[in-house]
Amino acid sequence: MNIDAQKHAAALKAMDYVRDGMKLGLGTGSTAAAFVDIVGAAVKDGLNLLCVPTSEATHAQAKALGIPLTTLEETPHLDLTVDGADELDDNLCLIKGGGGALLREMIVATASDQMIVIADASKHVEKLGKFPLPVEIDMFGMKSTYDKVISQAKSVGCTGEVKLREKSGGTPYITDGGNYILDCSFYPIEDPVALAKSFHTIPGVVESGLFINIAKTAIIAGEDGVKVLTV
Ligand code: A5P
Repeated sequence: MNIDAQKHAAALKAMDYVRDGMKLGLGTGSTAAAFVDIVGAAVKDGLNLLCVPTSEATHAQAKALGIPLTTLEETPHLDLTVDGADELDDNLCLIKGGGGALLREMIVATASDQMIVIADASKHVEKLGKFPLPVEIDMFGMKSTYDKVISQAKSVGCTGEVKLREKSGGTPYITDGGNYILDCSFYPIEDPVALAKSFHTIPGVVESGLFINIAKTAIIAGEDGVKVLTV
């Protein structure tokens, strides 16, 4: 199976957890997009779902597929969210936010009874951090927050390059929520729990891409098939 086939296989397996009548969170990224396509086909075949997308991109995709959509304002509690990840370890600590949607992804996942991660096997790592950790920050006081991110990370043993995410033209990338993202190359992240906590002490940090204790199930598709990891 090539990577795209692995993403599709993981997305397909996630349908085992979807029941008629569910309120469902839809993730962001290429693996989540494979899942949204499958959900769209199931809805067309008569499956009854009400979904909340985690980004404008996923909203557009789901709308085009005719998937019934709602918001957390109208439907604050969801049954299940299915989303991808940039990295996941054996404890199902995740790095998310490569696609810039980490804040909405975390809000939607934590509004759900359950979050299931779908991923190809390359995302499953022993230690997090080879994928630069996205940290979403408020635009106000950006340099001050940048310095604090570096010093707080250092206090829990994480050092490395911290870069303001930019678009191709060199202007800062802005999230759906109107914030900046710092991409932090902190490999190896020995203590993701401590690092996530340290970010929460910084007022300018909106959220980090470390998802801790949120997903309890991961569906990982590799060369040799699909496996389900639970914690
Ligand atoms: C989006 O912000 C991310 O959290 C994605 O879930 C993550 O980047 C995985 O994306 P891919 O499935 O495209 O690798």
